[in-house]
Amino acid sequence: MRWLFVFSGVLLCAGQPASSSCPLQLSPPSPVVRFGDPFRVNCSSTAGQIESMGLESVYGSEKSEGVSSVAMEITSVRDWDMSVICYMNRPNVPQCSTDLPVTVYKTPDRVSISQASLAGPLVEGETYSLECDVVNVAPVRNLSVHWYMGEKMVLAQSFDGSSLSPVNATSVYNLTARRADDQSRIRCEAQLDFWAAVPSPPAVKSESRAVVVLYPPTFAQPGNETLELPAGGKFILNCSATGNPTPVYGWRAPGAVRLTGPEGNRSLLAPPFPLPGTYECTASNTRGSASKYFTVPQAPRNHTTMAALLGAFLSLAVVISFGGLLLLTPRGNFSFSKGGYLIGRPASSAPI
Ligand SMILES: *[C@@H]1O[C@H](CO)[C@@H](O)[C@H](O)[C@H]1NC(C)=O
Ligand SMILES: *[C@@H]1O[C@H](CO)[C@@H](O)[C@H](O)[C@H]1NC(C)=O
Ligand SMILES: *[C@@H]1O[C@H](CO)[C@@H](O)[C@H](O)[C@H]1NC(C)=O
Ligand SMILES: *[C@@H]1O[C@H](CO)[C@@H](O)[C@H](O)[C@H]1NC(C)=O
Ligand SMILES: *[C@@H]1O[C@H](CO)[C@@H](O)[C@H](O)[C@H]1NC(C)=O
Repeated sequence: MRWLFVFSGVLLCAGQPASSSCPLQLSPPSPVVRFGDPFRVNCSSTAGQIESMGLESVYGSEKSEGVSSVAMEITSVRDWDMSVICYMNRPNVPQCSTDLPVTVYKTPDRVSISQASLAGPLVEGETYSLECDVVNVAPVRNLSVHWYMGEKMVLAQSFDGSSLSPVNATSVYNLTARRADDQSRIRCEAQLDFWAAVPSPPAVKSESRAVVVLYPPTFAQPGNETLELPAGGKFILNCSATGNPTPVYGWRAPGAVRLTGPEGNRSLLAPPFPLPGTYECTASNTRGSASKYFTVPQAPRNHTTMAALLGAFLSLAVVISFGGLLLLTPRGNFSFSKGGYLIGRPASSAPI
């Protein structure tokens, strides 16, 4: 009601809006002022024959006679809902006026991520609602909250609301925990965005919180492997897996021999007595376990041994066929027509 009283002088003539018929320019054209700061506004006109001009606000009024501008200084803005009215009186023209809203802002007292959501480690695949609390900010319709995971912005949220005085606002970010987020830091920032040609006040940042994501072991090289046994006979099996908590390893050598002790809990295994066969490795942590199999085939014999064996076998075959005893079956196997001879167990009459 104070308002009505203050600019009753304007209301008398129910001022027409600023237009070509009411050539008033206010400076600044869209004012933004921090609560408590000083504020200065100037109203000028290009019209001729001005009797008087005036500026009115809850802080008082200014009037000028016979000049084309009027200015007002407010030492400290202490109203959230504030506007300034400029009016002009000319001879034989009804009084006209323009109403300039002033954006009065306040940066938040505090911006914080609520404790509960990140109190413990997160589990991969689960979704967590994280809250960013913004305390005592105005005006809420110019507020935006930005969430950052590391330096990457993951959510930007703006707010509706008509309140011009300070409010508390909460932004919710539904985070689905991914292993890539493990060991990241998350924070939120509250920003007041003004389209006017004034610098927006700096963002107010929350503390950054560590994100810990638990996930089951995953092998660096997935899938079972078949190894070529190298000439030296030595080989290394790589069972390295990522996981949180750090996986522990277990190995079984061929013949179900379990490797125990610190030798067994290794991501890499270099068997001291390499044996062909199947090695099994298991990586486990609290989130699960995974197994991987390494097949090491029987070593192929080297060429000299092969040649010697082949030669011995051929000479045996030649000797036997001369004896008229060897036949080749349609399946390509050697067999002996008469029951008396078996490979590897020559009968006493065979001429060896
Ligand atoms: C208001 O602004 C106009 C134009 O910038 C300027 O000419 C005038 O002197 C100013 N008036 C006051 C009272 O500051
Ligand atoms: C905002 O939160 C603060 C503390 O969290 C509280 O003191 C204050 O009353 C709240 N303001 C509103 C408008 O709810
Ligand atoms: C976040 O999750 C909550 C609870 O599951 C849900 O009510 C809310 O709509 C979600 N918010 C967004 C922005 O997805
Ligand atoms: C504040 O936000 C509203 C709504 O987005 C916008 O229209 C207005 O221009 C903003 N205020 C300033 C001073 O930029
Ligand atoms: C690896 O071998 C095991 C046992 O032979 C089998 O159960 C498993 O499905 C294999 N895994 C892959 C990825 O091929």
